[in-house]
Amino acid sequence: MRENIRVISMPSCNESGEPGWRLCVAPMLDWTDRHCRFFHRQLSRHARLYTEMVTTGALLHGDQARHLDFDAAEQPVALQLGGSEPADLAACARLAGRWGYAEVNLNCGCPSPRVQRGAFGACLMAEPALVRDAVAAMRDAVGAALPITVKHRVGIDRVESYGFMRDFVGTVADAGCEVFIVHARNAWLDGLSPKDNREIPPLRPELVYRLKRDFPGLQVVINGGIRDDAQVREHLRHVDGVMIGREAYQRPWWLTRWDHEYFGEPAQAAPDMSQIEQVMREYCQRMAAQGVAPFAVVRHMLGLWKGAPGARAWRQAMSEPRHRRLDAAELFARAGEARLAAAG
Ligand SMILES: Cc1cc2nc3c(=O)[nH]c(=O)nc-3n(C[C@H](O)[C@H](O)[C@H](O)COP(=O)(O)O)c2cc1C
Repeated sequence: MRENIRVISMPSCNESGEPGWRLCVAPMLDWTDRHCRFFHRQLSRHARLYTEMVTTGALLHGDQARHLDFDAAEQPVALQLGGSEPADLAACARLAGRWGYAEVNLNCGCPSPRVQRGAFGACLMAEPALVRDAVAAMRDAVGAALPITVKHRVGIDRVESYGFMRDFVGTVADAGCEVFIVHARNAWLDGLSPKDNREIPPLRPELVYRLKRDFPGLQVVINGGIRDDAQVREHLRHVDGVMIGREAYQRPWWLTRWDHEYFGEPAQAAPDMSQIEQVMREYCQRMAAQGVAPFAVVRHMLGLWKGAPGARAWRQAMSEPRHRRLDAAELFARAGEARLAAAG
């Protein structure tokens, strides 16, 4: 176990001065690793960031430091757990507290066949009492200072009734869960791939709005298919927060506006991409000392210069397979030269 136990830092605040879920970047397996989160934190100081889902088995029997280590600059950052056994989840929540995470989130929305075989993820929506017991066990393990939250769908399979989700949330809230992050489409567990399960079941935001009306004391965060500020603003008229996945990853510069638009920070001049690039180069150099190849970091930032002259040349230089053997200083120098040359 890690020796230096971090002090839990306070999550950033929304305009009313309370810890905020106002704008969040979604947990995404293979995408929102620590390097991606460090990059996103350079773009928004206040957005709440989530780890990829980590299973209780991987944490309890695997390399804990590999799964849990993160840079203090990433805060506020939430650990998302996959699992269903209350005692195991409680042990993992305790680890999250020791590592200094700002939140523990339980995945009740993942439809993948592997996760279904493990009887967690979205199929937990059919077992609200088990989720309630798991949340209660996690809360007992860490106390009230570390929020335990749940991310789920509006329904599973072809269950279309609002009452199914309402009863799930009502039961889980009884255990002290106060934040529900709702991907506003059903998970179809009978044959759709995880990718199709993020596209094909229709979005039904009105169910999420209704949930907030029925449980005004809970924080309700909506997720799914949100791509621009107009959509974010519309959702924020009805619920407490918005979680964005693919659009944040693919269009990261959108994050540079969030602190002003949604967290009450003064308007800033256009962000200085060169400065962000320099911070990321230094980060790559620090990570190299831990054996991390620069590409493991830069693969998340290929959209950095999107829209600027020379962006394509920069992206190609960064992702060129022959450049994988370069150290960070050399790689960033080559990409910078390629960008300037292409920009003329
Ligand atoms: C590559 C990828 C990996 C994902 N991994 C997870 C995960 O580990 N845990 C989770 O709760 N959701 C996961 N999701 C779902 C997202 O968190 C989010 O619910 C979904 O993409 C819908 O939001 P969006 O339309 O803004 O992308 C993943 C999505 C993608 C694209």
